[in-house]
Amino acid sequence: MIVSAAEMLKKAKAGHYAVGHFNINNLEWTKAILLAAEEKKSPVILGVSEGAGKYMTGFKTISAMVYAMHDALGITVPMALHLDHGSYEGCKACIEAGFTSVMFDGSALPLEENIAKTKELVELAHSKGISIEAEVGAIGGEEDGVVGAGECADPEECKMVCDLGVDMLAAGIGNIHGVYPENWAGLSFETLDAIQQKTGDMPLVLHGGTGIPEDMVKKAITLGVSKVNVNTECQLVFAEATRKYIEAGKDKEGKGFDPRKLLAPGTEAIKAKVIEKMELFGSVGQA
Ligand code: 13P
Repeated sequence: MIVSAAEMLKKAKAGHYAVGHFNINNLEWTKAILLAAEEKKSPVILGVSEGAGKYMTGFKTISAMVYAMHDALGITVPMALHLDHGSYEGCKACIEAGFTSVMFDGSALPLEENIAKTKELVELAHSKGISIEAEVGAIGGEEDGVVGAGECADPEECKMVCDLGVDMLAAGIGNIHGVYPENWAGLSFETLDAIQQKTGDMPLVLHGGTGIPEDMVKKAITLGVSKVNVNTECQLVFAEATRKYIEAGKDKEGKGFDPRKLLAPGTEAIKAKVIEKMELFGSVGQA
């Protein structure tokens, strides 16, 4: 069932679990995530960064692939197709292309401009039944060229942005994209608690899901996080499984070089990782 992310996240917030947002890069990624969600009867969000959008030759290509694959695989669980860290133009293009959810990342803009553009995009998205995520306080690290310093969000600013009618809010709480450095200070639960107190029922989004210790993820969910974004971890397990296959010389055995065989261990590894995350987030059986 292809839906916006609004209802599934409201349900998650009320039920004290989180829905996984998994970034996609190609057909194998998409298939692995959709099969994992269906097998575990879990709602799911497919995230597409603007860089991945370009790689896959555009948002329309992705939309066509995802809709067709959803039907061909007989996916019954709620699934949203979501733009990750979108620009103003990117959001408009995805709304046009059939995405059911977008994130407008105006965190690098002056607050006034972030607010004005978010407001405009909220109206546009909602007029088409599409959900929208906004960001306050930069998520640290680098993702597809989007670099953030990792500052904690100001709860007052979070409240202001929520009042614009967004469906979910990404608030920086010391989280970073990619692998966490050795000296990482951990998530700021104090900030998260203050944000949740100001923003009430708003589903909060935890970016940079890769490498956050399980107990911290669980605690964040108890403090109002309803969507957890995971990207790098799927890339790492895909690369590792593919490397093992080649290092074991399996691509040289028979027709082991056939891409359908060569990419199979990596695809299976993504599926297993996604299932592991769904279990951690508590979304299994919630579809
Ligand atoms: P990671 O790559 O750290 O898992 O972050 C994913 C993310 O936040 C996508 O927006």
